[in-house]
Amino acid sequence: MAESMKGLHRSHRCAEVSNKNINETVTVMGWVQKRRNLGSLIFIDLRDRSGILQLVFNEETVGAEGYRKAESLRSEFVIAVTGKVAKRSAAVNEHLKTGDIEVIAEDIRILSESETPPFPIEENSQTKDEVRLKYRYLDLRRPDIQKNLMLRSKVAYLMRDFMAKEGFLEIETPMLCKSTPEGARDYLVPSRVHQGHFYALPQSPQLYKQLLMCSGYDRYFQIARCFRDEDLRADRQPEFTQADMELSFVDVEDVLDVNERLLQYVFREAIGVEVQLPLPRMSWQEAMDRFGSDKPDTRFGMELTDVSDIVAGCGFSVFTGALENGGSVRGINAKGQAGMPRKKIDKLVEFAKGYGAKGLAYLAVNEDGSYKSSFGKFMTEEELQALVKAMDGEAGDLLFFAADKNKIVWNVLGALRLELAKELELLDPDRYQFLWITEFPLLEWSEEENRFMAMHHPFTMPMEEDWERIDSDPGSVRAKAYDIVLNGTELGGGSVRIHQNEIQEKMFEVLGFTKELAHEQFGFLLDAFQYGVPPHAGLAYGLDRLVMHMVHADSIRDVIAFPKVKDASCLMTQAPGTVDPKQLDELGLEIL
Ligand code: AMO
Ligand code: AMP
Repeated sequence: MAESMKGLHRSHRCAEVSNKNINETVTVMGWVQKRRNLGSLIFIDLRDRSGILQLVFNEETVGAEGYRKAESLRSEFVIAVTGKVAKRSAAVNEHLKTGDIEVIAEDIRILSESETPPFPIEENSQTKDEVRLKYRYLDLRRPDIQKNLMLRSKVAYLMRDFMAKEGFLEIETPMLCKSTPEGARDYLVPSRVHQGHFYALPQSPQLYKQLLMCSGYDRYFQIARCFRDEDLRADRQPEFTQADMELSFVDVEDVLDVNERLLQYVFREAIGVEVQLPLPRMSWQEAMDRFGSDKPDTRFGMELTDVSDIVAGCGFSVFTGALENGGSVRGINAKGQAGMPRKKIDKLVEFAKGYGAKGLAYLAVNEDGSYKSSFGKFMTEEELQALVKAMDGEAGDLLFFAADKNKIVWNVLGALRLELAKELELLDPDRYQFLWITEFPLLEWSEEENRFMAMHHPFTMPMEEDWERIDSDPGSVRAKAYDIVLNGTELGGGSVRIHQNEIQEKMFEVLGFTKELAHEQFGFLLDAFQYGVPPHAGLAYGLDRLVMHMVHADSIRDVIAFPKVKDASCLMTQAPGTVDPKQLDELGLEIL
């Protein structure tokens, strides 16, 4: 039967015991990692979240009953052991923090027994994800996941610490909100009292934090849960955590400044990485032109080159056709890859098609200077030479070209660039390349909706110098919006907000909202703005993504205690589940 720990107090976590404690009596508690019997000795590796400690049982010291208990131990039994710390009698284990010591047990209690776990509790698990997530409580015992969650806790603490010192107030905002359009799909919660009415879970605290600025709190911070019903990817979860902030009486520079110092502090204190300030900045336009992405990974080059002018009059209709349709032709140079096998190139063409390309043209510059190309027959030797020159092509290089609407060309070459970098192993995981992307377009044309949509959200301030073009050329107006990018992922984003009524009303008009609709959706914010609103701006980080980068996790799930899988279900609790018909009745709901 499981014993109680009455009268016992844990004196140390396993890996807190060290050679400084030699000859001291300690009491440790944890899970049995491994048992080895060696003649008259039993060795137990005891595990808790700090690490592993070796315990030694011999009948002389622990007594006959204690020895029998030690003999009965199996993996994942929970035990409490009191004993004396000694220098290791056998070889020192260099891989363990406690590798030069052991505890000679004098007393043992079995606090809880365990079934054989469905998979071994160890680092770098080879177990299938589905099994790990079904038994997440066991998976969470694995040292690598425990390290991730401990670091996550530290990062959250460091952020709070820094923000408090900078005068930010931590204020909670509601989880039961009003559904507002724009952005992702909402998770809805039916109201029992107001049947037929629904709350929405917040996609972010955006409107509330702006209201807090109206209310004079001037610097707000929150580690906030957010909910978005969107397609999941390796770095997206339906519920995730933002480190969210808003500041009054500031402009872009002030927000970037406090955030650069925040990042520097957190990276230094959490993982000992020294971030050099100021962080580099790049306008959205430059990022798209050079990297085909608004979150470029700048750890390597292979930048895009616009060759539209060079191929303008050529005989290759794929190129000229794209230009006639208002698109462009751009290329990237995979240095030294001319020898890439045809099969591999074909794979890259397929890859490009997955990103919306109709095809991917390529040209290899052979060592003897001749060309091997998928479109050579459509161009003269001079045209090809001019093209290769524009791409800085040298013997041994492999050039790829995409021709289409700008958006597609950027998307395709941006993705191809990353794919090549992965294959050619150009990505150094230990380098942290931060980058601010600024001057985003204010609006984005939606083919689906046949109207302009806000690129960030409808409260984002346009750049003063562009505002006069809001009627004549709305697509060209840039916004006071910024993203913080790390090694090719968007860590966070934000903007200066509109605080002038006239600009806000014009924005709604451009977005196709009638006055009535705008008031129906955002009335409380617009009303609040009638009573003295300070200029304000903010930013939110994806906390999960930030931690993911710090621990080099491949999946966002490895830094979230209880994550969901791709179809947004939880394999452990089986959520979402059906409910009792009585519950539906109370809510006035019927399942069709
Ligand atoms: P945005 O929508 O850019 O901005 O979100 C901010 C950051 O949150 C993270 N993020 C996610 N992380 C995990 N799973 C998801 N599904 C997910 N969606 C977003 C990203 C992103 O950069 N209110 C604005 C911020 C502001 O303007 O102040 C906002 O929510 O890292
Ligand atoms: P085709 O004449 O259709 O065989 O095309 C010749 C080459 O151009 C092939 O390598 C195609 O993959 C490539 N190609 C086709 N469409 C495009 C495009 N939109 N952009 C770049 N290359 C393309």
